[in-house]
Amino acid sequence: MISINLPIIGEEEIRAVTDVLKNGLLTSALGTGPKVTAFEQEFAKFVNVSHAVAVNTGTSALHLALVSAGIKPGDEVILPSFTFVATAEAVVIAGGIPVFADIDPLSFNINPKEIEEKITNKTKIILPVDLFGLPADLKPICEIALSRNLAVIEDAAQAHGARYSGKPIGSLANAACWSFYASKNMTTGEGGIITTNNDDMAESLSMLRTHGEKTKYSSLMLGYNYRMSEIQAAIGLIQLKKLPNFVAKRTKNAKKLTKLLSKETQLELPADSECMTSSWNLYTVKIKDSSEKERDRIVESLRKNGVGAAVYYINPIHLMPFYKENFGSYHLPKTEKAAKEVFSLPVHPGLEESQVEFIAETLIKIL
Ligand SMILES: Cc1ncc(COP(=O)(O)O)c(C=O)c1O
Repeated sequence: MISINLPIIGEEEIRAVTDVLKNGLLTSALGTGPKVTAFEQEFAKFVNVSHAVAVNTGTSALHLALVSAGIKPGDEVILPSFTFVATAEAVVIAGGIPVFADIDPLSFNINPKEIEEKITNKTKIILPVDLFGLPADLKPICEIALSRNLAVIEDAAQAHGARYSGKPIGSLANAACWSFYASKNMTTGEGGIITTNNDDMAESLSMLRTHGEKTKYSSLMLGYNYRMSEIQAAIGLIQLKKLPNFVAKRTKNAKKLTKLLSKETQLELPADSECMTSSWNLYTVKIKDSSEKERDRIVESLRKNGVGAAVYYINPIHLMPFYKENFGSYHLPKTEKAAKEVFSLPVHPGLEESQVEFIAETLIKIL
């Protein structure tokens, strides 16, 4: 089976981990070991911002970014429902109320116009997601936020290497949150990082991740243990160097799929533009006006034939039992339609050209 995503780990990562294990410093009590610090510096350079604070997961990154943006119990955060559950989960953990806005059906990302309609006097933060590697429409979102005195925290968990107006994503929002889970464009096994240009935010983030401490045994605020280990950071340093090649290969595979599938009138192929350049974490297509059953049949058939297609996301968050019970009913027609029509195909950098051709041929045959 061609898997939907695959971590690409080489000898360099294995050597880097072995070196850490042999040196004995596996982690540091304040989360500021030499590998973590070097990784933060390199990642900040990559995003072109002044600070990066490494943590243990992307979910922790979102939680801490919301806390350091000043979220208080009952504050509303506007976010899409068509995303991985961690985006909303972080809002709830931070004491906020998730308020779901509908998407643009072409990009699958939150629609800025829908955001405006959801703003109330309790709104504090806008939380767009760069879904499948495609940047959310950050410029209008940041303009709305600026005019209403709101913060923008970007969920860039799936989008390492994506660009907005030619610049790396992550620099427009007040902070951006990244994941290094194994299916992401680069991985540390589990891991996350927050990037920001805000000095105060960076300082509070680095305390929040380690028990609210600046110095040991003297907590200045309520904190957490969300530290990244030296082992994870050692892998991250190597993966970050490889990231531009990984993204270039993903882009090549995505362009090839688009070329091979472009005559299939039943399919709507993923959007990408000069303004919003995808980093292709997933190649997500839509079966136009199909039933959910029909889409599931196609995915099942692809899998039977060796193509690890998958549906992200079969349940939008507002329809999940916990969120429905606690945060009320929503009618998000574009989100609900997308969840019934989409499925994703592999474009990861481990694919041979012949495998990309096989994926397209198999799908065409099934259609
Ligand atoms: C959009 C999105 N947000 C947040 C996360 C959470 O990241 P992690 O799994 O590292 O906690 C993920 C990844 O799994 C994600 O895809």
